[in-house]
Amino acid sequence: MTGPTPDFWQNLFDQNATRWDRGGCSPQLLAWLDSGALAPCRIAVPGCGGGWEVAELARRGFEVIGIDYTPAAVERTRALLAEQGLHAEVVQADVLQWQPAAPLDAVYEQTCLCALHPDLWTGYAQQLHRWVRPGGTLFALFMQMVRPGAVQEGLIEGPPYHCDINAMRALFPGTQWHWPKPPYPQVKHPNLSHELVLPLTRI
Ligand SMILES: C[S@@+](CC[C@H](N)C(=O)[O-])C[C@H]1O[C@@H](n2cnc3c(N)ncnc32)[C@H](O)[C@@H]1O
Repeated sequence: MTGPTPDFWQNLFDQNATRWDRGGCSPQLLAWLDSGALAPCRIAVPGCGGGWEVAELARRGFEVIGIDYTPAAVERTRALLAEQGLHAEVVQADVLQWQPAAPLDAVYEQTCLCALHPDLWTGYAQQLHRWVRPGGTLFALFMQMVRPGAVQEGLIEGPPYHCDINAMRALFPGTQWHWPKPPYPQVKHPNLSHELVLPLTRI
Protein backbone atom coordinates (compact mmCIF):
# COMPACT_ATOMS: atom_id res chain seq x y z
CA MET A 1 0.00 0.00 0.00
CA THR A 2 1.42 3.42 -0.97
CA GLY A 3 1.70 5.86 1.94
CA PRO A 4 0.16 5.55 5.41
CA THR A 5 -1.60 2.30 6.39
CA PRO A 6 -4.38 1.63 8.93
CA ASP A 7 -1.63 0.49 11.36
CA PHE A 8 0.10 3.86 10.97
CA TRP A 9 -3.11 5.69 11.96
CA GLN A 10 -3.96 3.17 14.68
CA ASN A 11 -0.57 3.81 16.33
CA LEU A 12 -1.21 7.56 16.30
CA PHE A 13 -4.62 7.07 17.92
CA ASP A 14 -3.13 4.65 20.49
CA GLN A 15 -0.49 7.24 21.44
CA ASN A 16 -3.00 10.11 21.37
CA ALA A 17 -0.72 11.71 18.78
CA THR A 18 -3.71 13.03 16.85
CA ARG A 19 -2.56 16.58 16.25
CA TRP A 20 -5.06 17.03 13.40
CA ASP A 21 -7.90 16.59 15.91
CA ARG A 22 -9.39 19.92 17.05
CA GLY A 23 -11.13 18.28 20.00
CA GLY A 24 -14.43 19.50 18.61
CA CYS A 25 -16.27 20.27 15.41
CA SER A 26 -14.55 22.38 12.73
CA PRO A 27 -15.62 26.05 12.87
CA GLN A 28 -16.13 25.93 9.08
CA LEU A 29 -18.66 23.12 9.32
CA LEU A 30 -20.51 25.09 12.03
CA ALA A 31 -20.48 28.17 9.76
CA TRP A 32 -21.91 26.19 6.83
CA LEU A 33 -24.58 24.71 9.09
CA ASP A 34 -25.50 27.98 10.80
CA SER A 35 -25.74 29.85 7.47
CA GLY A 36 -27.97 27.18 5.92
CA ALA A 37 -25.41 26.52 3.13
CA LEU A 38 -25.48 22.93 4.38
CA ALA A 39 -29.00 21.76 5.29
CA PRO A 40 -30.13 18.27 6.40
CA CYS A 41 -29.47 15.73 3.65
CA ARG A 42 -27.69 12.44 2.99
CA ILE A 43 -24.00 13.12 3.62
CA ALA A 44 -20.77 11.17 4.10
CA VAL A 45 -17.69 12.11 6.11
CA PRO A 46 -14.73 10.13 4.72
CA GLY A 47 -11.78 9.60 7.09
CA CYS A 48 -13.97 10.73 9.99
CA GLY A 49 -11.28 10.25 12.68
CA GLY A 50 -12.59 11.16 16.15
CA GLY A 51 -16.06 11.74 14.71
CA TRP A 52 -16.69 15.35 15.85
CA GLU A 53 -18.21 16.36 12.52
CA VAL A 54 -20.24 13.13 12.24
CA ALA A 55 -21.78 13.86 15.67
CA GLU A 56 -22.55 17.49 14.80
CA LEU A 57 -24.26 16.48 11.56
CA ALA A 58 -26.24 13.77 13.35
CA ARG A 59 -27.31 16.30 16.01
CA ARG A 60 -28.60 18.59 13.25
CA GLY A 61 -30.76 15.89 11.67
CA PHE A 62 -28.58 14.76 8.76
CA GLU A 63 -28.53 11.19 7.46
CA VAL A 64 -24.80 10.90 8.02
CA ILE A 65 -22.35 8.13 7.21
CA GLY A 66 -18.88 8.25 8.80
CA ILE A 67 -16.23 6.17 7.02
CA ASP A 68 -12.80 5.29 8.35
CA TYR A 69 -10.57 2.24 7.90
CA THR A 70 -8.81 2.53 11.27
CA PRO A 71 -10.43 0.58 14.13
CA ALA A 72 -9.64 3.29 16.73
CA ALA A 73 -11.35 5.97 14.62
CA VAL A 74 -14.47 3.88 14.21
CA GLU A 75 -14.51 3.12 17.96
CA ARG A 76 -14.03 6.79 18.88
CA THR A 77 -16.77 7.96 16.53
CA ARG A 78 -19.22 5.33 17.75
CA ALA A 79 -18.38 6.13 21.39
CA LEU A 80 -18.90 9.87 20.82
CA LEU A 81 -22.27 9.24 19.20
CA ALA A 82 -23.34 6.90 22.01
CA GLU A 83 -22.18 9.38 24.66
CA GLN A 84 -24.34 12.09 23.09
CA GLY A 85 -27.32 9.83 22.36
CA LEU A 86 -26.99 10.40 18.60
CA HIS A 87 -27.42 8.07 15.63
CA ALA A 88 -25.25 7.81 12.53
CA GLU A 89 -23.94 5.00 10.37
CA VAL A 90 -20.23 4.43 11.01
CA VAL A 91 -18.52 2.15 8.52
CA GLN A 92 -15.06 0.63 8.84
CA ALA A 93 -13.91 0.74 5.21
CA ASP A 94 -11.29 2.07 2.83
CA VAL A 95 -12.57 5.23 1.13
CA LEU A 96 -10.95 3.96 -2.08
CA GLN A 97 -13.22 0.90 -2.05
CA TRP A 98 -16.45 1.87 -0.25
CA GLN A 99 -19.59 2.63 -2.26
CA PRO A 100 -22.80 4.16 -0.92
CA ALA A 101 -26.02 2.15 -1.31
CA ALA A 102 -27.57 5.21 -2.99
CA PRO A 103 -26.06 8.48 -4.27
CA LEU A 104 -25.16 11.13 -1.71
CA ASP A 105 -26.36 14.72 -1.60
CA ALA A 106 -23.09 15.88 -0.11
CA VAL A 107 -19.66 14.89 1.16
CA TYR A 108 -17.77 16.70 3.90
CA GLU A 109 -14.07 16.40 3.07
CA GLN A 110 -11.80 17.42 5.92
CA THR A 111 -8.26 16.05 6.13
CA CYS A 112 -9.01 12.77 4.37
CA LEU A 113 -7.48 13.77 1.03
CA CYS A 114 -4.35 15.15 2.74
CA ALA A 115 -4.07 11.87 4.70
CA LEU A 116 -3.76 9.87 1.46
CA HIS A 117 -0.50 9.57 -0.48
CA PRO A 118 -0.84 11.64 -3.70
CA ASP A 119 -0.51 8.42 -5.76
CA LEU A 120 -4.02 7.63 -4.45
CA TRP A 121 -5.60 11.02 -5.09
CA THR A 122 -6.96 10.31 -8.56
CA GLY A 123 -8.74 7.19 -7.33
CA TYR A 124 -10.16 9.08 -4.35
CA ALA A 125 -11.37 11.98 -6.52
CA GLN A 126 -13.08 9.46 -8.82
CA GLN A 127 -14.78 7.93 -5.78
CA LEU A 128 -16.10 11.34 -4.65
CA HIS A 129 -17.39 12.01 -8.15
CA ARG A 130 -19.17 8.62 -8.13
CA TRP A 131 -20.64 9.12 -4.64
CA VAL A 132 -22.16 12.60 -5.05
CA ARG A 133 -25.30 13.00 -7.17
CA PRO A 134 -25.36 15.66 -9.92
CA GLY A 135 -26.24 18.96 -8.24
CA GLY A 136 -24.84 17.69 -4.92
CA THR A 137 -21.94 19.35 -3.13
CA LEU A 138 -18.45 18.43 -2.05
CA PHE A 139 -17.87 20.61 1.02
CA ALA A 140 -14.09 20.56 0.84
CA LEU A 141 -11.42 21.95 3.13
CA PHE A 142 -8.10 21.63 1.31
CA MET A 143 -5.17 21.45 3.73
CA GLN A 144 -2.32 23.84 2.90
CA MET A 145 1.02 22.52 4.17
CA VAL A 146 3.72 24.08 1.99
CA ARG A 147 7.14 22.76 3.01
CA PRO A 148 10.50 23.99 1.65
CA GLY A 149 11.47 20.45 0.57
CA ALA A 150 8.44 20.26 -1.73
CA VAL A 151 9.12 23.57 -3.44
CA GLN A 152 12.91 23.24 -3.69
CA GLU A 153 13.46 19.53 -4.26
CA GLY A 154 10.08 18.12 -5.18
CA LEU A 155 9.87 16.03 -2.01
CA ILE A 156 6.46 14.49 -1.33
CA GLU A 157 6.08 14.94 2.42
CA GLY A 158 3.21 13.99 4.65
CA PRO A 159 0.77 13.25 6.01
CA PRO A 160 -0.62 15.81 5.89
CA TYR A 161 0.25 16.08 2.20
CA HIS A 162 0.00 19.60 0.81
CA CYS A 163 -3.21 20.04 -1.23
CA ASP A 164 -1.91 22.53 -3.78
CA ILE A 165 -4.73 24.41 -5.49
CA ASN A 166 -3.49 23.49 -8.98
CA ALA A 167 -3.48 19.82 -8.04
CA MET A 168 -7.01 20.24 -6.63
CA ARG A 169 -8.15 21.79 -9.88
CA ALA A 170 -6.70 18.82 -11.81
CA LEU A 171 -8.39 16.32 -9.47
CA PHE A 172 -11.76 18.08 -9.45
CA PRO A 173 -11.83 19.64 -12.93
CA GLY A 174 -14.15 22.44 -13.90
CA THR A 175 -15.83 20.07 -16.38
CA GLN A 176 -17.04 17.90 -13.45
CA TRP A 177 -17.38 20.37 -10.57
CA HIS A 178 -18.50 23.96 -10.42
CA TRP A 179 -15.84 26.06 -8.67
CA PRO A 180 -16.55 29.34 -6.89
CA LYS A 181 -14.28 32.19 -7.89
CA PRO A 182 -11.10 32.83 -5.84
CA PRO A 183 -9.93 34.20 -3.47
CA TYR A 184 -11.03 31.41 -1.14
CA PRO A 185 -11.52 31.82 2.61
CA GLN A 186 -8.99 30.23 4.97
CA VAL A 187 -9.65 28.26 8.14
CA LYS A 188 -6.76 28.26 10.59
CA HIS A 189 -5.85 24.95 12.14
CA PRO A 190 -4.58 25.06 15.75
CA ASN A 191 -1.73 22.54 15.19
CA LEU A 192 -1.27 22.43 11.43
CA SER A 193 -1.36 25.30 8.94
CA HIS A 194 -4.66 26.28 7.35
CA GLU A 195 -7.31 24.95 5.00
CA LEU A 196 -8.87 26.58 1.94
CA VAL A 197 -12.66 26.54 1.98
CA LEU A 198 -14.07 25.21 -1.28
CA PRO A 199 -17.65 24.04 -1.70
CA LEU A 200 -17.70 22.36 -5.15
CA THR A 201 -20.98 21.54 -6.87
CA ARG A 202 -21.11 18.31 -8.86
CA ILE A 203 -22.09 19.02 -12.46
C1 LIG B 1 -5.73 13.25 9.58
S1 LIG B 1 -6.99 12.19 10.14
C2 LIG B 1 -8.42 13.28 10.01
C3 LIG B 1 -9.61 12.87 10.85
C4 LIG B 1 -10.78 13.85 10.78
N1 LIG B 1 -11.24 14.04 9.43
C5 LIG B 1 -10.41 15.18 11.39
O1 LIG B 1 -10.23 16.16 10.65
O2 LIG B 1 -10.29 15.25 12.63
C6 LIG B 1 -7.21 11.12 8.76
C7 LIG B 1 -8.23 10.02 9.00
O3 LIG B 1 -8.45 9.37 7.76
C8 LIG B 1 -8.43 7.98 7.94
N2 LIG B 1 -8.01 7.38 6.66
C9 LIG B 1 -6.83 7.58 6.02
N3 LIG B 1 -6.82 6.89 4.87
C10 LIG B 1 -8.02 6.26 4.78
C11 LIG B 1 -8.59 5.38 3.82
N4 LIG B 1 -7.95 5.03 2.70
N5 LIG B 1 -9.85 4.92 4.04
C12 LIG B 1 -10.52 5.27 5.18
N6 LIG B 1 -10.02 6.08 6.12
C13 LIG B 1 -8.78 6.58 5.92
C14 LIG B 1 -7.46 7.75 9.09
O4 LIG B 1 -7.71 6.52 9.73
C15 LIG B 1 -7.74 8.97 9.99
O5 LIG B 1 -8.75 8.69 10.92
